[in-house]
Amino acid sequence: MPSSKINVAVAGLGFGAEFLPIYQRHPNANMYAICQRNKENLDKTGDAFGIEKRYTDYDELLKDPNIDAVHINTPIPDHAIQSLKALKAGKHVACTVPMATTVEECRQIVEAVKDTGLTYMMMETVVYAREFLFMKELYEKGELGKIQFLKASHQQEMDGWPNYWPGLPPMYYATHCVGPVLGLTRSEAEYVSCFGSGTIREELHAFYQSPYAVESTHIKFRNSDISAHVYRSLFDTARQYRESFEVYGSKKSVEWPLIEGRPLVIHTAKRPEPEIPEEVQSPDYAHLLPEPVQRFTTGGVYDTDEHQHLSFVQGAGHGGSHPHLVHEFISALVEKREPFPNARQSANITCVGILAHESAKRGGEIIRLPEFTLS
Ligand SMILES: NC(=O)c1ccc[n+]([C@@H]2O[C@H](COP(=O)([O-])OP(=O)(O)OC[C@H]3O[C@@H](n4cnc5c(N)ncnc54)[C@H](O)[C@@H]3O)[C@@H](O)[C@H]2O)c1
Repeated sequence: MPSSKINVAVAGLGFGAEFLPIYQRHPNANMYAICQRNKENLDKTGDAFGIEKRYTDYDELLKDPNIDAVHINTPIPDHAIQSLKALKAGKHVACTVPMATTVEECRQIVEAVKDTGLTYMMMETVVYAREFLFMKELYEKGELGKIQFLKASHQQEMDGWPNYWPGLPPMYYATHCVGPVLGLTRSEAEYVSCFGSGTIREELHAFYQSPYAVESTHIKFRNSDISAHVYRSLFDTARQYRESFEVYGSKKSVEWPLIEGRPLVIHTAKRPEPEIPEEVQSPDYAHLLPEPVQRFTTGGVYDTDEHQHLSFVQGAGHGGSHPHLVHEFISALVEKREPFPNARQSANITCVGILAHESAKRGGEIIRLPEFTLS
């Protein structure tokens, strides 16, 4: 990789702080500036990580000509507007999930990337988690055979999370399920159909006019005979946190454990029945990364457990994905290539969720993905 360094600014320092020491140690990044609105917390984080350049105002940060790229980790409703502002200010953008909350915002970001020639990457953790990388390796080596079906779920209890979460339609935050099912074969969604199931408690309905406890979506892949099933719940549905991803192949299938922390189960075809399933611990993929950031695949970025971000602890460490995300974004910039997922792919993934909720409201009607999300 060329030796140039990208000056990075991180906006939003809750989950976002997880990434600071990774950028600090990445050989092609310079962790240049941080931004959040609360000055006291900003200074606390700046002092803890030794970052001098600090902004409480995102618009001021964008005026800084030294910044090459912004990594956005602010609340969901801000993702699209802040991504657009950054692109218009001439900055490359990495943004946590989801890309946006409307199809129109996704379209504007794809257009802005096209117009500016800048890079956009949605920082979807699951497509860089070790289990996903393991299944992808099996797929690429041909060990799975022909892919027949994919399945993913994301169930999480969100009572007590910040203000934009209560009552959120489950499919509005579907990228952790949609990302891996499309990402394994680098496919695009062509159309979706979703059923809403069950009812969350009355007081949660008003936030998004959405009553569904579970949303269950079928995705038809474009130019392919494959389809996938994804389902999500956020409130009033009893289940341990689980972001599962499963792939069914003609030779081997891989299933996610029912209880977090247990091994994956690999099923091998044509064996005697009792020998078909095998419990397999997913290997780690730190070796794909530059040495200074390899350690972040197996540990949080802080030195003590009490400082870990809740999503990292509850989310099983996001499968060691954080340094892979940083590495993909930074190397795409240095090598002047598209990252995965780029703006169009991120829009396709995000719009599946947005349109799935629309489909649920219309009783499961089939809805096609818009042209701008297709290659
Ligand atoms: N696995 C994952 O991919 C994953 C996990 C956790 C969180 N996230 C995403 O990360 C984002 C942040 O989550 P969180 O739990 O840290 O939220 P949070 O509300 O705890 O923190 C948000 C941060 O953004 C800052 N902020 C808010 N508005 C801002 C503005 N206008 N300008 C600058 N800074 C601003 C706040 O000061 C705070 O530091 C969310 O969008 C969430 O979806 C993704």
